[in-house]
Amino acid sequence: MKKSIQTRLFMIISLLVTCFVLLSMLINNNFLERYYIDHKKAQLQQNAKQIAAIYKGNPNAIILEMERLESKSALTMIIFNSDFVLKYPYYGTYGRGQGNLGGMPGPRLEGRLETGLAYIKNNREMLDEHDVFALTEDTRLMINFLNLFTKLDNGDYLMLTTPLSAIEESAAIANRFFFFSGLVTILIGLAAAYFFARRFTRPIRGLNSIAQKMSQLDFSEKYPVTSNDEIGELGNSINSLSDQLDRAIGDLTRANQKLQADIEYERSLDEMRKEFVSSVSHELKTPIALIQGYAEGLKLNVIEDEDSKNFYCDVITDEARKMNLMVRDLLDLSQYESGTFKIERTVFDILTLLERVISKYQPLFQEKGVELRLDWGGIGDELPVDGDIMRIEQVLVNYINNALNYMDDNRKLSVSLHIGEDKVRISVYNSGHPIAEDNMEMIFNSFYKVDKARTRSVGGSGLGLSIVRAIQQQHHNAYGVINRDEGVEFWFEVDRAQGKF
Ligand SMILES: Nc1ncnc2c1ncn2[C@@H]1O[C@H](COP(=O)(O)OP(=O)(O)OP(=O)(O)O)[C@@H](O)[C@H]1O
Ligand SMILES: [Mg+2]
Repeated sequence: MKKSIQTRLFMIISLLVTCFVLLSMLINNNFLERYYIDHKKAQLQQNAKQIAAIYKGNPNAIILEMERLESKSALTMIIFNSDFVLKYPYYGTYGRGQGNLGGMPGPRLEGRLETGLAYIKNNREMLDEHDVFALTEDTRLMINFLNLFTKLDNGDYLMLTTPLSAIEESAAIANRFFFFSGLVTILIGLAAAYFFARRFTRPIRGLNSIAQKMSQLDFSEKYPVTSNDEIGELGNSINSLSDQLDRAIGDLTRANQKLQADIEYERSLDEMRKEFVSSVSHELKTPIALIQGYAEGLKLNVIEDEDSKNFYCDVITDEARKMNLMVRDLLDLSQYESGTFKIERTVFDILTLLERVISKYQPLFQEKGVELRLDWGGIGDELPVDGDIMRIEQVLVNYINNALNYMDDNRKLSVSLHIGEDKVRISVYNSGHPIAEDNMEMIFNSFYKVDKARTRSVGGSGLGLSIVRAIQQQHHNAYGVINRDEGVEFWFEVDRAQGKF
């Protein structure tokens, strides 16, 4: 089993508590009795001193004091005079002043009186010098006694005797009690050690779980620092480490994602470039082949009549013009898309621009029999907008050209204008077939044409709407196409100018 800090702490604390309790029990067992005897000796000595202080040779005079001491300290006092005659205690007339033990007061004290008297007689010289303690055994009662012999001022001998059994018993009781209290102490100690160890290791366990989460890159959990000690400091360090790691890994992830997006973008750019080159070559192949064929025909003089020659020349010029237009569009587009081109914003009147462009187209509309509708009545004389006027005109012209090129035989074309809060939306509608949902996004890509054959007949190369898209993106404005009843509507937005121009 793995030994956790908690277990070790618990074991150490429990061991310490148990050792201390056992040690004090041992000390108690071995020394309590000795200590008790010493204490008893001191007490006997103290009692002897008290008696000596008040004793004037007549025990009767201090009988109350003596009996009080005897009862209180569980001792018995015996006094002999210097001739070894018992003076105290005496009962009735027994032994009073008789100088022998013949009429002793019953058998109760007999044993001790005899031994005491013998002891005093044997140690007379020593008692002149100092008090003497002696352990004696009352053979009759089979009890050990602790005795103090002292010589009083008037030459009488005082013997204080207390049964040792009381001492032994007290010590035994104390020891037994100490054993039980020790057991309780150990049990409480064990419980306290358990709770203390748990409490002490709880923050460590918390920190460990946070660190483990951190190793799995989960930095959501933080350590709630509540203490001002080493654990609190560690918690602070782990928290700031977690923050920094979180930030660093977040940065790294973001950088990585950006890198991946960049790589993806580069790859798509490369793809687009390849597609673009192949589309351009494809678009140029047709007019070049036509020019080459018709030029060779002219050179070989395969035709005689003037009209046919003129037709040949017209085809060559027309194809050359288309190529020229396309190359110009391509140059424009590459400029917009490479981002080197910057729009030049000015504030101008969009109504003036619309009118100018439409009046330019008027002869063409008439020639083609277009039914034109303009829908911006009631707006006022002028409507200032903010943008690159040349590019916005280019967007408008592209939409009108497309409307002219792709309208059906109903020949309807309308230009309308809606004013929003901070944008103006211009829409060019032409009658015609709706554009399939799938194509709506695609037609704004370069070289994308819905109907290849038809587009060629109207001379388109599929670049017009991609130029529209590039210009609108530069302006950060929206654009799009909506299928309407019997026609399509292309729209784009321009920024309304706040003030006047
Ligand atoms: N008003 C419209 N009605 C129907 N289809 C349209 C309309 N405008 C554009 N399209 C479709 O979207 C395609 C892309 O248009 P876009 O203007 O980009 O190229 P284009 O007109 O073919 O050539 P270019 O404008 O470069 O001369 C067109 O080929 C056509 O199929
Ligand atoms: Mg076009």
